[in-house]
Amino acid sequence: MRQKLPPPLMSACILRLRGVTKRFLAPGGAVTALEGVDLEVATGEFVAITGPSGSGKTTLLHVACLLEPPTAGEIEFDGESTARLSERRLAALRGRKIGLVFQKFCLLPHRSVLENVLFRFRYIPHDAQEARRQALAALAAVGLQDRLDHPARLLSGGEMQRVAIARALARPPRLLAADEPTGNLDRAAAGGVMSCLQQLNRSGVTILLVTHNAALLDCAARRLTLRDGRLATDS
Ligand SMILES: Nc1ncnc2c1ncn2[C@@H]1O[C@H](COP(=O)(O)OP(=O)(O)OP(=O)(O)O)[C@@H](O)[C@H]1O
Ligand SMILES: [Mg+2]
Repeated sequence: MRQKLPPPLMSACILRLRGVTKRFLAPGGAVTALEGVDLEVATGEFVAITGPSGSGKTTLLHVACLLEPPTAGEIEFDGESTARLSERRLAALRGRKIGLVFQKFCLLPHRSVLENVLFRFRYIPHDAQEARRQALAALAAVGLQDRLDHPARLLSGGEMQRVAIARALARPPRLLAADEPTGNLDRAAAGGVMSCLQQLNRSGVTILLVTHNAALLDCAARRLTLRDGRLATDS
């Protein structure tokens, strides 16, 4: 009889930051964007981050999504310390487990809407037909099914934002980080994005969201506030 394998272990805490500091060297001098941030996010949580402009929200998402290393401190992702992982391993980890909706969208301007969304699969093994099916479903979910061949550079700001969201949704990650994902959207489109996030969260995806949208904040089980690079509230 074939032995039944146990399900893969899933860490109860998907993200753990300890004493995370991030400094940038800029022409005007060093900037401390994050200072000694401690944060634990449980698997399946929906956490919202607010804070004034320049308080470090985008930097926190980029560091938490392993796009940029912290200057000091430690980050564990899904039970694994990330400090010594090579850039290749980090890229693989991001591709398999993390989806990030960038504040500035980060689309490929000369590629079509569909190609931009298919980019989500670039660093992970996939079946081309299945990837296309998922990309089309994600674009339909954000109402862009009629813009598939449109070059990204010719889209409106709100449409670009929805492509960025569809790219993250096309392959549901373990952690979805979204940086002001409704910043350029009207109420109806923002409502659609909110339903997508809630649906994903119900299916077990952990959400880390930077937003000032009151309705989206209401979806979050926990809200954090960043001030001058420090986490001020954890309620
Ligand atoms: N690559 C960089 N080089 C130099 N300084 C940077 C860099 N990235 C961010 N900063 C600085 O770090 C601080 C935090 O920036 P960050 O983008 O994280 O703020 P934010 O809270 O997301 O702001 P906003 O609400 O305006 O998007 C700011 O003072 C910013 O100027
Ligand atoms: Mg920002």
